[in-house]
Amino acid sequence: MKITLLGCGALGQVWLSALHQQGHEVQGWLRERQPCCHVDVRKKEGAVFSHTLTANDADFLASSDLLLVTLKAWQVASAVNRLATTLPPSSPILLIHNGMNPVDELHNVPQPLLLGVTTHAARHDDDAIVHVASGITHIGPAKHPYRNGHNLTAILHQALPEVIWHENIYPAAWSKLAVNCVINPLTALKGCRNGDLRHYPGEVAAICQEVAAVMACEGIPVSAENLLADINKIIASTAENISSMLQDIRMQRRTEIDYISGFLLKRAQAHGLAVPVNSHLYAQVKYKEKTYERIRTPLSRTRQ
Ligand code: NAP
Ligand code: PAF
Repeated sequence: MKITLLGCGALGQVWLSALHQQGHEVQGWLRERQPCCHVDVRKKEGAVFSHTLTANDADFLASSDLLLVTLKAWQVASAVNRLATTLPPSSPILLIHNGMNPVDELHNVPQPLLLGVTTHAARHDDDAIVHVASGITHIGPAKHPYRNGHNLTAILHQALPEVIWHENIYPAAWSKLAVNCVINPLTALKGCRNGDLRHYPGEVAAICQEVAAVMACEGIPVSAENLLADINKIIASTAENISSMLQDIRMQRRTEIDYISGFLLKRAQAHGLAVPVNSHLYAQVKYKEKTYERIRTPLSRTRQ
């Protein structure tokens, strides 16, 4: 298969290395146009993948069978809209990210859109990527049924197991959103590892209660108790993790809060539900983001 991968960061490099090792023709697509990209992935048990692959080749993109997108949620719309004009209209675009909504920002994209959520874990370590933990990638159609889903899943599964196809991806996507609504803002605001959230059972339970109410209105019924039990398991199994949102806050980068709690707030509003605990967390993370945005642009601020 011929695959262009957009977003050659932690997760993207794990996919590039896995697909290349499986014999697929792959290229990376970098923000700044470059003829090649270096992929350096280390597995926890010591195996190393180090290769230089083609990058930003428009002819390659024009004949790609798949565009795999591993950008942060807020980076998706503008980058994908640009590449979709060159990708063949029949080639699917698979978006793998935390949070929800980018798909609604892709209005005029003719290609089949697929959505993915994953429990793989990868992080930057100097110039390399460490594939910290293997996991499961759930994929499915974002809007319209896609008839080649099972074939595509088999191909991706061979490269980086496990990959599971869902005709309705939204229950899996909402379950991941629920996890991110709890762990990401709380760890980002408290500046703690995931496991330390066991010290805040009241806040964790209150977030779950609100998320479960919104999920029920979305047609994905789950009891707040079951959601809480599942999330407590993830807090325990990722106890040593520094969540992606805490990493973003520490590096003073834009977080994915608009696509996590922000998305939940939009859906709650659409259903006429009040979600005060999640609203408060959303506002606090936005406030933190704005603080360092203001520090970065002191001149533009004084001119306003
Ligand atoms: P990441 O390391 O920041 O990777 C994103 C990459 O996209 C970066 O290399 C970035 O380059 C590049 N990029 C940004 N804008 C671009 C553009 N317009 N054109 C081309 N490339 C562009 O992030 P990640 O950790 O891989 O995460 C990707 C998504 O997967 C996120 O939604 C994350 O929440 C989700 N996720 C990640 C993991 C994980 O373990 N890493 C697990 C589950 C889900 P610059 O660095 O130059 O900006
Ligand atoms: O965003 C993250 O950090 C991860 O999705 C998760 C599951 C919260 C674990 O750290």
